[in-house]
Amino acid sequence: MQAEQNELITRVGPGTACGALLRSYWQPVALLDEFDARLDPRMAARQVKPVRLLGEDLVLFRDGHGRFGLLERPCPHRGADLAFGRCEDDGLRCPFHGWKFAADGSCLETPAEPIASTLCQRVRQRSYPLLERAGVLFAWLGPEGSTAPALPAFDCFVAPASHSFAFKGMWHCNWLQAFEVGIDPAHPSFLHRYLQDPSLDDDAAYGRQFRAASVGDVEGERWPMTRVMREFHRPEIRFESVAEGLLRLTTLRHMTDRLTHVRVTHAAFPATFVIPLSETITITQMHVPVDDTRTYWYSFFTSFAEPLDKEAMRAQRLACVTLPDYVPVQGRHNDWGFDPEEQRTRTYLGMGEDDINLHDQWAVESMGAIQDRTREHLATSDKVIMANRRTLLKAIETVRAGGRPPMVLDRDAAAALTGPDTIDCIAPADRWSEFWSEAAVAKRSGASWLRGALRESGVARAEAAR
Ligand code: FES
Ligand SMILES: [Fe+2]
Repeated sequence: MQAEQNELITRVGPGTACGALLRSYWQPVALLDEFDARLDPRMAARQVKPVRLLGEDLVLFRDGHGRFGLLERPCPHRGADLAFGRCEDDGLRCPFHGWKFAADGSCLETPAEPIASTLCQRVRQRSYPLLERAGVLFAWLGPEGSTAPALPAFDCFVAPASHSFAFKGMWHCNWLQAFEVGIDPAHPSFLHRYLQDPSLDDDAAYGRQFRAASVGDVEGERWPMTRVMREFHRPEIRFESVAEGLLRLTTLRHMTDRLTHVRVTHAAFPATFVIPLSETITITQMHVPVDDTRTYWYSFFTSFAEPLDKEAMRAQRLACVTLPDYVPVQGRHNDWGFDPEEQRTRTYLGMGEDDINLHDQWAVESMGAIQDRTREHLATSDKVIMANRRTLLKAIETVRAGGRPPMVLDRDAAAALTGPDTIDCIAPADRWSEFWSEAAVAKRSGASWLRGALRESGVARAEAAR
């Protein structure tokens, strides 16, 4: 790749071409948890949080009536920092001269001005639309005066609070290399390899990825995914577009003449992937640029069976980050906790057995803040990465020309985009395609909440068609 092209697809600040593309989409901007005073005691005094998104400094706040607002950070009067604002019932007040702004950016008061002043009506702070889904606040940084798209009806956005849990973490690298780790189906056989297998009685539900059993069996024996990944490390990778901007990745590991391991995941343009965590839980992970060299991953865990033990999941993950910014405890500063003895005896990488997220963190951070793609040598196993870069370059051009890029959806298109399926199964070699589809249907139909949601969306569609 040429250096200029690498710049084009990685720079996301205001005024950049890729930044304009990424501003077409709703982007996660905070967990609702970040406003919970039990997790961040400062929130008891005042619900205001400076945030940075796509290279822009913004302030996110919840007023006394519970309304969230996302405003530009410099006060429109003389530029003082609204992140230090006084949070009131109906807005955020700049402490410099007392100007107050509502969640929608309108100016409510300019108390130092003459009593008859109408300045207030002429001043406005730039504000951005917000919406809340699955415990996450999303912001839309698209051009003023244009309409925000709709979020797809993916399972992670439809599941009730009892069956969904969201968490995030910061990686010190560019957004694209963070996303590219998830559309690389070959790496789990190596990066996440355990040299011994766990007992399948271990609790896989809380993030011990690849520890759970694959659906199906090998002559009556259940295998953990990690064993399949380790023993069959030369996958056949296929991908197809199931909707504009939505790729299905099918990764086949031919085990014996009679058995094929099938892993089905999806990639939703521009930076979301959907993967199985276990037989009943899916992870949807979005990659959100803080700026060019830092990225938040947001993971949505969705259960198709039992409600999730969110307290346990949160506690386990909070142990790996520092608040309020969800910066990992491990990182470049301490060699990501690398242990050569562990690498010799227990894991392929040597960076711990419980948090596989740390393995991915090492992979994407150790490349450098922005991967130098002029020096890479892409291989057969990188075919989805190559396809995605072609889509990305084309989408950047589409937006430059004033067009609509993939996955910018209107309401009807969004309502029709459900699922997507994920599965990890050991299938009969001669009918692996039917086998995984049936297993995926069985997984989704196990969700009581999904049956209701599917019925409702069917009704809504029927009504819209009438
Ligand atoms: S700078 Fe904010 S009120 Fe004057
Ligand atoms: Fe990974």
